[in-house]
Formats: sequence, structure tokens, C-alpha cells
Amino acid sequence: MDFSAIKISDPDIYNAIQNETEREETKILLIASENYASKAVLEAQGSVFTNKYAEGYPSKRYYGGCEFADVVETLAIERAKRLFNAEHVNVQPHSGTQANMAVYFSVLKPGDTILGMKLSHGGHLSHGSPVNFTGMIYKTFFYGVDKETGIIDMNEVTRLAETYKPKMIVVGASAYSRIIDFKAFSDIARLVGAYLLADIAHIAGLVAAGLHPSPIPYADFVTSTTHKTLRGPRGGFIMCKSEYAKLVDKALFPGIQGGPLSHVIAAKAVAFNEALKPEFKEYQKNVIQNARALSDNLTKRGFSIVSGGTDNHLMLVDLTRMDVTGSEAEIALDKAGITVNKNAIPYDQKPPTITSGIRLGTPSVTTRGFGLKEMEEISEMITDAIKNRASDSMLASIREKSKKMCENFPIYR
Ligand SMILES: Cc1ncc(COP(=O)(O)O)c(C=O)c1O
Repeated sequence: MDFSAIKISDPDIYNAIQNETEREETKILLIASENYASKAVLEAQGSVFTNKYAEGYPSKRYYGGCEFADVVETLAIERAKRLFNAEHVNVQPHSGTQANMAVYFSVLKPGDTILGMKLSHGGHLSHGSPVNFTGMIYKTFFYGVDKETGIIDMNEVTRLAETYKPKMIVVGASAYSRIIDFKAFSDIARLVGAYLLADIAHIAGLVAAGLHPSPIPYADFVTSTTHKTLRGPRGGFIMCKSEYAKLVDKALFPGIQGGPLSHVIAAKAVAFNEALKPEFKEYQKNVIQNARALSDNLTKRGFSIVSGGTDNHLMLVDLTRMDVTGSEAEIALDKAGITVNKNAIPYDQKPPTITSGIRLGTPSVTTRGFGLKEMEEISEMITDAIKNRASDSMLASIREKSKKMCENFPIYR
């Protein structure tokens, strides 16, 4: 991108952008929720739509001069509808959390009951956590994964649903590596008269590519982010059955947001268009193949993976047996040029600031072109870095290797 203006007007921010570019280009990024958006997405997001107020919806705006904002928003909606086979789409949520908030506000009242997945078992803050608005406004109950298998315990979901009769069941996760059975969730929701919200923030790209079963036929509401496996700009969107369209749109604007971010919506439209191309399906296949390879290679090297492996783009590594905490591993790996996040594992004995696990994902490394050979080499680097975490010289030598690997697969250069 052209940074000639900011280079002169604001060297501090220009330098931070240069440093961030260097960091992204030279480190192996295994954070499961991140990705590298295409240059086209960045260009749309950096466009003059930044300047435009467009409160309302296409052809029903509260400002003049919205004819081109209407074009990008209508295209974003149409493309998302086609991509996911959705009846109604709202592309205005500023984030995944706001997409969820709009859905709750569309059909729930304060004090209503939500049943979601435990944060510590892979759920998300916005699914009912006490430190989130959901836990403050609604009564919340949680299901989790089975202690032995690491897989969602559907008997527990049924039991809790029958006991607490939630008005909404939320399914979807931030750190769960197995296929989610949306139909089974929908059967339980119907049984107890609950709405079903499927939050596919993490797996949206896999769903779009047909590589994870879609919740669209089963859920009343489907929310997502656009910046994870979907490889778009940072943001959210909502899909729902036509019967809820008006309620959702009203809950989002004027309910919880003001003017939409038309520049981000333009970038969402670009990302949806990219995801409709055949290459996107190939990309998602490679994401899954790489995740499996990384998980298998780490298992061979003695690591334990929660649930024994992965069906999607991520895995949770249980470090308990390695006698290292998640935070120690995160710091050592960062020094070795591998960016990950510490993550609680189900039934973790350690606090969330320490944790017994790390979460690894392959969307970003696959975007830059890494394949099976690199997964093998990365698993070796991870093993060496964790085993030699006390040796700065060892970590520095792994850093050289990770940097070289990245140099062979430039992202934007
Ligand atoms: C399952 C799930 N839902 C919602 C979100 C929230 O997205 P955002 O950070 O854009 O609010 C996330 C983000 O990690 C997520 O993993």
C-alpha cells in the first residue's frame, strides 16, 4: 500500500505500521483467530468510504449521498447470501460480539435465560460469561466437553436444556477442534422451545467452503466474524431466517450501533467475493490438511492434543504432561519467532492468566503458502523451543530458522 502521506505527516504511526508489517512478515503466526487479509481487502478498507455516514440500510438512509454506500452494502449482503445460502443478512455489526448482541436484543428480554458453552471449555465471552454484558443482563447456564473425550457432551446439553428451559441456546466456540453437530443442537432447541444461535466466527471459512456442516438449515440465527478463517476485514455479520429480519435489523440499528462502517463493509464485500471463488475452497482444504499435519506431528513428538486431534483449523495443546504452563510456552515460542496464545484447556487447574495449554491454528500460515513440509518443521521448532525455553541462545537459533521460513513465503511483499 502507498504510505507516502502518513510517512511525512505522522512518522510515529508510520513507523509502527512498518514495524507491524515486519513482525507479520517475519514471524510464524499460529493464532487461530487471525489471518492475513488480501491487498484488495486492505485497499477497500482504506478507501474513501471511511468518510461516509450512512445510518440506516440500503435505500433507507438517514443521510444524503449514500448511493455508493448502498452499492457496497447491497453487494456485501448479496454475496454473503450466496456464499452461505442465507435468507437474510446484516453486514453492519462492527464485531462478532456486536453481531451476537444484536441477536440477543432482537428476541430476548433482560432476565431471560441463555444456555451457552463454557468459556473455559472453548466457548466465547459473549455466550454468557459473567464479565460480559451477556452474563450481566441474562441468566446464563453452561454446557461443556466430556472430560475423557474432550468432545461436547450432548447428553449434558439436553439435560441442562430440559432443566433450565433457556430462551436461547448458543452453539459455537473459540477453541474447539471438532465438528459441531448443529442439527443435534437444533433438535434440543426445538424440544425445549428455545431459539438457536449458531456462532460460526471461527469456522465461517470452512462452512463457506462446504468443509464443515452448515448451521443455516437448523439455526434461527447465525453470527460470524469476517476476519478469521474467512480472511476479510475485522468485523461481524448476522444471518437469519426471513421471519427475524426486521427484528435483527432494528436491534442492530438503531438498537446498539450508530452509523455503519461503510469502508469495512466494502472490504467485507471484497472478502465474500474472494470466498465465492474456487481457489477459496482449495485454501480451506489446505488449512484443514495443515492443521491435521501439525496436530499429528506434535503428537508424534509427545504432545497431547485435546480430543486427540482436529477436524478444523485449530487445535488445543495440553501441556500438563510437559511440565510447562501455557504462558511460559507462549513467551518461549514468541522468542523463537512463533506467535501463539496461551489457552485454558477443559478442566484446567491453572488460572486463565497462566493456563495449561496453547491454541494453535493454521489459517494464517496457509494463507502465506506453508504446506505439509513446513508443518513438520514447525512442530520440530515448537518442540525444541518448549524443551529449551531456558536457553536464550537456543531460542535465538530457532528464531533464525523461523525467520528464514517466513522469508521464503512473503505475505504482501
Ligand atoms: C466464537 C466467537 N464468537 C465471537 C467472537 C467475537 O468476535 P470479536 O472479537 O470481533 O468481537 C469471537 C472472537 O474471538 C469468537 O471466537
